[in-house]
Amino acid sequence: MSTTRNILLTETERSLAASFPASFHWGAATASYQIEGATREDGRGPSIWDAFSETPGKVYQGHTGEVAADHYHRMAEDVALMAKLGLDSYRFSIAWPRILPKGTGAINEKGLDFYDRLVDALLAHQIQPYVTLYHWDLPLTLHQRGGWLSRETAFAFADYAEIVARRLGDRVKHWITLNEPWCSAYLGYAVGVHAPGMQDRQAAVNAGHHLLLAHGLAVPRVRAASPDCKLGLALNLGPRYPGDDRPETARDLDRADMFANRWLLDPLYRGSYPAQLFELMELDAPPIEEGDLTIISTPIDFLGLNYYTRAVVYGQEQPPHPDACKESNPADATYTAMQWEIFPQGLRDMLVRLHQEYHIPSLYITENGAAFNDTWNGGETISDPGRVSYLRDHIAAVADAIRDGAPVDGYFVWSLMDNFEWAYGYDKRFGIVYVDYESQQRVIKESGRWYAQHIAAFHDIH
Ligand code: NOJ
Repeated sequence: MSTTRNILLTETERSLAASFPASFHWGAATASYQIEGATREDGRGPSIWDAFSETPGKVYQGHTGEVAADHYHRMAEDVALMAKLGLDSYRFSIAWPRILPKGTGAINEKGLDFYDRLVDALLAHQIQPYVTLYHWDLPLTLHQRGGWLSRETAFAFADYAEIVARRLGDRVKHWITLNEPWCSAYLGYAVGVHAPGMQDRQAAVNAGHHLLLAHGLAVPRVRAASPDCKLGLALNLGPRYPGDDRPETARDLDRADMFANRWLLDPLYRGSYPAQLFELMELDAPPIEEGDLTIISTPIDFLGLNYYTRAVVYGQEQPPHPDACKESNPADATYTAMQWEIFPQGLRDMLVRLHQEYHIPSLYITENGAAFNDTWNGGETISDPGRVSYLRDHIAAVADAIRDGAPVDGYFVWSLMDNFEWAYGYDKRFGIVYVDYESQQRVIKESGRWYAQHIAAFHDIH
């Protein structure tokens, strides 16, 4: 492959690639609002992210997803790029407001047609689609009717999921109901840095419950419409480590983990929220109706882990709310442009924990990657050595987890290409492919070449 010839893997890197089982999947991920653009085209309705990004002061320099990486118009070119990289899988999300412009009711066929063409293009290149049904672009009309604070939104989601699965389910065999519901709930409703921008902690736990319910209600609907499919959801989980050995630290570590990880994992896999979580937060429990936790804990086929970093916890004298623990990462560590500590061992530790404590039958890394301040000088490639090491070291951590018994079936880089990084706009670049937003030209970064070589080495062996 000419695009990849000039980056050579070391012997260690070749044996890393060889250490993965033959059935392992290698892919890259994106999300609709972050790459598509064309927000007013072909009948798409507005979403909460259009409204949020158009509100002054919410997104870096007023950036919006209106054009983004123009993927809506460049889909064929982008799929060809994936094929060039040798990806066997691609994770993307469906924009709910393209399918149902008002969230419920009339179906917009042109929206379905776009994803239909995308799925066909992928399959024509032997790339398996992994489809996320909700990656944060809630139809604005549903928000005006209460959004995730309303139980009705969960039922609307299940209806929407079935519509999509009926149209694509003959060809799509992997479904991810929700992406990072923790972020939708907490960043969207308590911190307010994500759409819809609310700042109310009680609202966040209520929204979290309705998101989980939406997931659970959608599971049987998708299964019925997509025979033999595998289904799961993607959670952002980050291991917590103690900063010292004081008893207050052990106490706060437990609280931090409860909030960051067990809040959503426990209802999904144990059928109950962590004991005392809401009391410790000094909030009411969310509005749980009879049967909800059974619906939420409906068995699923796999869990997607989105992993970026860890946190180190230091105990405080006064016991904090679980969402107010003191977390501070070491000053001498290496950080990405997001100021996230690079800590590959956290990925291994989390995978092994999910296997040992939650007995999850199949795990995917549905996102892993790093933002760096890449610059393009107009040449053929872009040097991003930080991202090459990040990917290599995290892939090695996945290999360690597999060696320690974790049933990991695939790995998706975040992201295929630079895109709209939510509140950071286009300032943060996560792609293994650079996007020059002026010309919309795509340039494969060295990390993209490295990843392609890694995948090629994997296939050489298997
Ligand atoms: C989590 C989200 O799923 C994705 O949309 C985001 O761009 C990356 N992580 C990086 O922050």
